[in-house]
Amino acid sequence: MKDKVYIFDTTLRDGEQVPGCQLNTVEKIEVARMLESLGVDVIEAGFPVSSPGDFSSVVEISKAVANPTICALTRAVEKDIEVAAAALEFAKQGRIHTGIGTSDFHIKYKFNSTPEEIIERAVKAVKFARNLIGEVEFYAEDAGRTDNKYLARVVEAVIAAGATVINIPDTTGYTLPHEYGAKIKYLAEHVPNIHKAILSTHCHNDLGMATANTISGVLSGARQVEVTINGIGERAGNTALEEVVMILKSHKKQGLYTDVNSKKIITASRLVSTLMRMPVQPNKAIVGRNAFAHSSGIHQDGFLKKRETYEIINPKDVGLNQSSIILTARSGRAALKHRLESIGVKLTKSELDETYLRFLELADRKKEINDDDLMVLVARDRSVDKSIRLVGLQVFCGKNLQATATVTLCYNGQELTEAGLGNGPVDASLNAVRSIVKQKIHLEDFVIQTITRGSSDIGKVHMSIDYKGILYYGFGANTDIVQASVEAFLDAAGKALKA
Ligand code: KIV
Ligand code: ZN
Repeated sequence: MKDKVYIFDTTLRDGEQVPGCQLNTVEKIEVARMLESLGVDVIEAGFPVSSPGDFSSVVEISKAVANPTICALTRAVEKDIEVAAAALEFAKQGRIHTGIGTSDFHIKYKFNSTPEEIIERAVKAVKFARNLIGEVEFYAEDAGRTDNKYLARVVEAVIAAGATVINIPDTTGYTLPHEYGAKIKYLAEHVPNIHKAILSTHCHNDLGMATANTISGVLSGARQVEVTINGIGERAGNTALEEVVMILKSHKKQGLYTDVNSKKIITASRLVSTLMRMPVQPNKAIVGRNAFAHSSGIHQDGFLKKRETYEIINPKDVGLNQSSIILTARSGRAALKHRLESIGVKLTKSELDETYLRFLELADRKKEINDDDLMVLVARDRSVDKSIRLVGLQVFCGKNLQATATVTLCYNGQELTEAGLGNGPVDASLNAVRSIVKQKIHLEDFVIQTITRGSSDIGKVHMSIDYKGILYYGFGANTDIVQASVEAFLDAAGKALKA
């Protein structure tokens, strides 16, 4: 008998805690629909009491998504739980995720409390939540550094109070894989009522061990994993969904499986990267652009003789190199709509009209448009901030020439033009933008990636800027990388100037 491992995706809650990478509700719905088509079991949609935006995102995701359970986070505080239950009103299947810190650090310094009082607060919160909703998950924050004997008492008490999923977070990413596995095993063997609940892993990547810890937890009895697409999350991030899914798929002998359709992994990865403006590192396992690239001669030779010599995963299993219909400038709206729907993107009529115009613009320059190009196109169309828009760009640069740029922006409803000088075309263009908006905006980080490697490819630009001490992320995509860079800068600047 094979055992199912439930996939609890927290891209939209823990993942979204990356500073400067917040999504708006439309973008969150886009990600939630993608997660649904990927086949995740639970979507943690937000922390409703934290802001009106988070509240309405949970409401809208509950309406937009039918199959996965929708989960909302709370502290062990009645007000949080009431607000979460209200946000989940439209969920076909809702879950409240409540909890409290259980390590000495949390008990003494965060709560100035005692171990007994923490158990009382945990039980009270779970009972309160159970009266408002059918399913309650409990998290023992900093469980990684919590004494196992005490943790077992907390877990037994909250299961008796009605929790049916128990999350054991390694909040600080400190625990070693064998210790994390031993913790899960200890709970499975020492909590008398554990058969009434599922143990869940929730690992952070501060020491690069999130996936190893998660797998160790699963091999020791956990049957739910809390993960994010591309492993995004604050600090070094969370466990990456794609890594856990492909590990279980590659190691079938362990007798474990997930319901994720792995062929959609690359599309999901690119959507999240684009919407959150977070580039994926090229050597990232499974989804990095070099993950399946063989460059050394010896490897190439072995690979060409038999793929499995150097490749443990068939790239097609994660959705790479699948033959797909190529669209061109002659393709009509219906073909575009059909192709978008087949990759899980549904647009309203007016959104389709707008996207079609941008599609034609791109097809004129790029000739053949594939699914990756479409993902970039629609993600950008939906997230673009209309308050500041590039209208014209002209650059003059070359060897031994001072780069100059003339930029026209539509800014707050007015068309404004300025020129700028710089040490290259991007620098000159950004200086021209700075002259128009008349603000000190510092460029922190600047990454250019292409999708398929050809010189006619779309260049994707991820930027982060510092404005008044706060980081904002921006994304741009264009076959002209100077234009993509200006658009990424404007994307970030638009958010900064509005904030
Ligand atoms: O890392 C953590 O402890 C968490 C909990 C709030 C679940 O994200
Ligand atoms: Zn976390």
